[in-house]
Amino acid sequence: MTRATTPHQKILVIGSGGREHALCWKLAQSPLVDRVYCAPGNGGTATTDKTQNVPISASDFPALVAFAKDQGIALTVVGPDNALADGVVDAFHAEGLSIFGPTQAAARLESSKAFSKEFMETHHLPTARFAVFDNPTEAYAYCAQHTWARVIKVDGLALGKGVYVCDTLEQCQEALQEIFEANRFGASGQRVVVEERLHGPEVSLMVLSDGQTLIPLASSQDFKRRFDGNQGPNTGGMGSYSPVPNYSVWEDRVAKQVLTPLAEALRQADFTFKGLLYVGLMMVNDAPYILEFNARFGDPETQCLLPRLESDIVPLFWACVDGTLDQHEVIWHANAAVCVVLTADTYPQQGSSGEPITMPTQWPDDVIVFHAGTALNQDNSLVTQGGRILNVVGVGPSLPEATSIAYGAVDQIHFTGMACRTDIAKDVALCLSK
Ligand code: AMP
Ligand code: GLY
Repeated sequence: MTRATTPHQKILVIGSGGREHALCWKLAQSPLVDRVYCAPGNGGTATTDKTQNVPISASDFPALVAFAKDQGIALTVVGPDNALADGVVDAFHAEGLSIFGPTQAAARLESSKAFSKEFMETHHLPTARFAVFDNPTEAYAYCAQHTWARVIKVDGLALGKGVYVCDTLEQCQEALQEIFEANRFGASGQRVVVEERLHGPEVSLMVLSDGQTLIPLASSQDFKRRFDGNQGPNTGGMGSYSPVPNYSVWEDRVAKQVLTPLAEALRQADFTFKGLLYVGLMMVNDAPYILEFNARFGDPETQCLLPRLESDIVPLFWACVDGTLDQHEVIWHANAAVCVVLTADTYPQQGSSGEPITMPTQWPDDVIVFHAGTALNQDNSLVTQGGRILNVVGVGPSLPEATSIAYGAVDQIHFTGMACRTDIAKDVALCLSK
């Protein structure tokens, strides 16, 4: 028996969003797992089978390490990007603890856009042309010189809000002013990547990595804009679906042009990427381009992906940690899943707090409600606590069926100021050509 197949494992999940609830839900289904702890968790992880919350912040590494030691946690799984960027994995390694996620050095693929673009350039991975600037004057001059340079990205983490896709030079100037002069992103915005604006459909591809071998998970797509028809401000994600219907057309090309060279690049890198690598792809004239890397599971893509995963996730996480991913395969259900995010109507500017949530206590098997911004009151009643409140997932034999299951469940949930997009996965052709 290896540590991966040891029974009665205790798992710690770090984070408190819908992604973490989905991870806890899937981990708790493993016959190898006795108990899942979520730090700090939310109202959903407080009430999931075999799962309990631990009141430790995702940024309090000494307390997380102490908890893992005291409780005999077999494996810790990290949700949020900032914990990875700040070195939570290194803190666990320093104490000889097992943890699923990349080290601080490897997480630079997400925490520095300049680093990730330079990595892609060095290893000849397909990505948009770019240049890196530390001051707005030179960045603006580059935009003025190249009509294709119309995307401006702040270098550091920015809660998904640090990317400006511009139509005009004036918009580039406004973006640079906001970043450098209004200092909207603080330290994250002292450096920018200016890149070529590409056009085409987008796919999120999450990939398991042990540093040597990559296993792509099923395709998915998220909806970033706040309002129907992809209008309004960018958000942390208003919905998602999996699989992307015509992804199979691209699958071979992505394997050959992205995944094979990416695996080789990761093998050669001076860091070892163990964990989940999220590859944001855009298909440009039938060729896949990498828009971005994230060093962790996507949110809300994870919420529609994990209900489709047939394989036990625990051996897969251990295989990433142990470097044995080449001995594994990943099995999927032949279904589709759609996730509709319920938010406060004031989101993304503001969240909601303390509003009572009413919904059925039992859902049919084809509905899963993952919690994001929820909390339990003293009397165990459920209330809002955040901008994105609930993630309603419908699972069905096809995308249209999964969509109507998800929206049927949305109709049964109520809280004051509840809002959602009404077009998630309904017109996939539209979102594929956004
Ligand atoms: P990122 O966080 O880098 O994925 O960027 C967020 C979103 O901005 C992406 O999902 C795309 O919709 C858009 N985007 C990023 N880079 C580009 C690009 N080079 N050309 C066009 N759109 C882009
Ligand atoms: N859905 C994109 C992300 O998690 O950053």
